[in-house]
Amino acid sequence: MAQQNEAFKKLVSHCKEYGFIYQSSEIYDGLAAVYDYAPYGVLLKNNLKQYWWKSMVQLHENIVGIDASILMHPKTWKASGHVDAFNDPLIDNKDSKKRYRVDHLIEGYCEKIEAKINKDVAKAKKKFGEEFDEAQFRATNGRILDRQKRIDDIMARLAKVMSDGDMEGMAAMIEELEIKDPETGSANWTEPRQFNLMFSTQLGSVAGGDGKLYLRPETAQGIFVNFSNVQKTTRQKVPFGIAQIGKAFRNEIVARQFIFRMREFEQMEMQFFVKPGTEMEWYEKWKETRLNWHKALGHPAEKLRFHDHANLAHYANAAVDIEFQFPFGFRELEGIHSRTDFDLTEHQALSGKKLQYFDPELNENYVPYVVETSIGCDRMFLATMSHALMDETVPDADGKDSTRTVLKLPAPLAPIKCAVLPLLKNKEALTSKARAIFNDLKFAFDCQYDEKDAIGRRYRRQDAIGTPFCVTVDFDTLEDNTVTLRDRDTLKQERIPVDKVEQIVRERVDMRNLFA
Ligand code: GAP
Repeated sequence: MAQQNEAFKKLVSHCKEYGFIYQSSEIYDGLAAVYDYAPYGVLLKNNLKQYWWKSMVQLHENIVGIDASILMHPKTWKASGHVDAFNDPLIDNKDSKKRYRVDHLIEGYCEKIEAKINKDVAKAKKKFGEEFDEAQFRATNGRILDRQKRIDDIMARLAKVMSDGDMEGMAAMIEELEIKDPETGSANWTEPRQFNLMFSTQLGSVAGGDGKLYLRPETAQGIFVNFSNVQKTTRQKVPFGIAQIGKAFRNEIVARQFIFRMREFEQMEMQFFVKPGTEMEWYEKWKETRLNWHKALGHPAEKLRFHDHANLAHYANAAVDIEFQFPFGFRELEGIHSRTDFDLTEHQALSGKKLQYFDPELNENYVPYVVETSIGCDRMFLATMSHALMDETVPDADGKDSTRTVLKLPAPLAPIKCAVLPLLKNKEALTSKARAIFNDLKFAFDCQYDEKDAIGRRYRRQDAIGTPFCVTVDFDTLEDNTVTLRDRDTLKQERIPVDKVEQIVRERVDMRNLFA
């Protein structure tokens, strides 16, 4: 765990130091859980969005995109259930004045039991060496089984009180489990209460409740309210999908773990409208499709897993998370939800407008069912960065071992695709040739020209921002119009003609390589 936290700390400081993410309004000491994307960060984030958009919209004839507004008619949020049910249970500690989510406190209690289990496993592993069968040990050791049962019982009880909105039940659990403030050890708690996560704002000159608007807490509702508009204007037939990328806002009580849980974040969502009764088939299909999308980025299978929801949201009849192994453990990266006809039916009832589909094969109207895929762009960014960032021992220019920090991003996602480097800064013939190559390549993809410091240091700088290719202009270039092309991962240097650089790099950074 300590090692994982070190890795996470390194990732956070790398993001700042190398221009990927800054704290918002840092000169005023920042705003909690709000972040700005820095010059390389915005390029990587845009590439992730493009990868999602192309695979969801461009490659599916039956999925179209929209870009709906953040502000919507306030009835939207009444119909969707967010006004009444988009709550987190919070509790305050009277001594420390700190505020916590009740479910996080109880989960934290279970994590401590889990840590004890892991400690026992580690001890046994050390004792029995190579012959140790971990799965068998976990399945048969009495102490482990008792502890696991305790975790399962607590989590089942938590799921029940959460889905019932049972505040007394939550208070009883906090008391019975003798849960203390993780920072101060105080058990002096207030009663738990529900806290709505939507940010509200005011419309124009209208004062009072009438002008109250919300910043959207999910992009999905912009899709639901446009269902009929999109279906009619694009003449799509069920099954079809509507996709969208956009900002969402949640007043998270405990905003933590860097960009994992933010108050302003970006979602990439797709609502797939299907014939009622076929939703589970589509749910399974989208689970598989989305998992493959993650694997195509080179994330190993053991870093990804499905986690079925025990506690279903008010709109869902089935839901699963794709969890990713972040440096702080497995956490939700994407949600796939079978949302039934809940949203369209509720909007229909509150607006008085029909949100139905005429099925020409059945010769009847129905409200379609919806399977949703919903991924946080920022979480995807964090997952991608955490998997890519590593320290590696490689030979330096003299053939000796040295350590480099490298960001092994998939080449199509890298912020800078190619850096152009003259071997020496003070040789005009080299710098002008390198500049000419850069000025040509910059029309094809994001490139960088760098002449400062020794060539080895420049390579390391490009490694740290994930640049997959470096083109070096040396004295041979002036003779034979060839350059060296250095590969970030293999460190192999190829000699290639200048007029082939664009084509070779273009082929290697093409997003098609991910789709293949
Ligand atoms: N429309 C369904 C929906 O919004 P969700 O599970 O609440 O479902 C979907 O959110 C995804 O949005 C999550 O899997 C996560 O990647 C991202 N997300 C949710 N809350 C977030 C937050 N506070 N900060 C960053 N990403 C968040």
